[in-house]
Amino acid sequence: MTTFVLTALATLAALLLLTALFFFVLTRGALIVRSFSPTHSATSHVYPIYSNMRLIKFVDYQPVISAILLFQYPRLVGRIVTELQRINLAGKKVLITSCAFGNVIPRVVEAAVQAGTSDVLISDIVNNELLNARSKLQPFESSIRYISDDATAMRQPDGSVDVNVLFFLLHELPHPLKAKALNEASRVLKPGGKLFIGEFHRPRLALLRAFSWLYFKVFEPYGLALWDQEDPVVYLQSIGEWTVVRNTYFFSNYQMITATKK
Ligand SMILES: C[S@@+](CC[C@H](N)C(=O)[O-])C[C@H]1O[C@@H](n2cnc3c(N)ncnc32)[C@H](O)[C@@H]1O
Repeated sequence: MTTFVLTALATLAALLLLTALFFFVLTRGALIVRSFSPTHSATSHVYPIYSNMRLIKFVDYQPVISAILLFQYPRLVGRIVTELQRINLAGKKVLITSCAFGNVIPRVVEAAVQAGTSDVLISDIVNNELLNARSKLQPFESSIRYISDDATAMRQPDGSVDVNVLFFLLHELPHPLKAKALNEASRVLKPGGKLFIGEFHRPRLALLRAFSWLYFKVFEPYGLALWDQEDPVVYLQSIGEWTVVRNTYFFSNYQMITATKK
């Protein structure tokens, strides 16, 4: 019995270690390797896990994605859906700035279409992400346009969208790009329009804060500053007039920001 328990524990530990190694190599590890390259491009900060189609398909399973966000994913997406259900989107334009794994895009698109829009724009800097998103959105094909665009220098005109969704993009951008992405998100939004931002947040519990700190240090070096000096709400309020509601989840480990542009 003891041998069985020990073997099971050792197998579990090995599996966790392998999973951590897999994600490290495809996130932080890739950034470290790239930092030695003399060439730099607009996609240098994008992890291979978001650009290689095989890796995208390998990782993009709802239970895996939900587990990465400690099973808070449905609650965060549910917040955007609930807000969209309250708005009349007839004749209005909805922008999703950058794709994300899981069912966030189908759920947001479905809610937006039900709220009346027939004009949804899905953008990403990586074409494979757009193809992956498209593969989940067959029922809404006639209402969606897909565009290759950089969230930090968008090709959309000023004040051209009524809703803009940034779901877990900011923590993956180097700090100067976070401000640029928020400038752009604000610029393309019409007065009265709504900006939804899903992100990490400083946890209330010390133990969770310690784990979260370690997670960012190992895997996602650009995420930690969202806790303080790169707080999106503070930045938005410094660049314009907004009505902001911030909801936090799971001991404040995550946040959904609903910002209405005045
Ligand atoms: C929004 S995050 C998704 C993160 C989240 N952890 C998840 O589970 O899906 C990753 C997406 O952002 C995109 N992205 C990264 N930098 C971008 C940029 N500057 N402009 C537009 N899209 C960008 C990547 O190509 C990828 O599709």
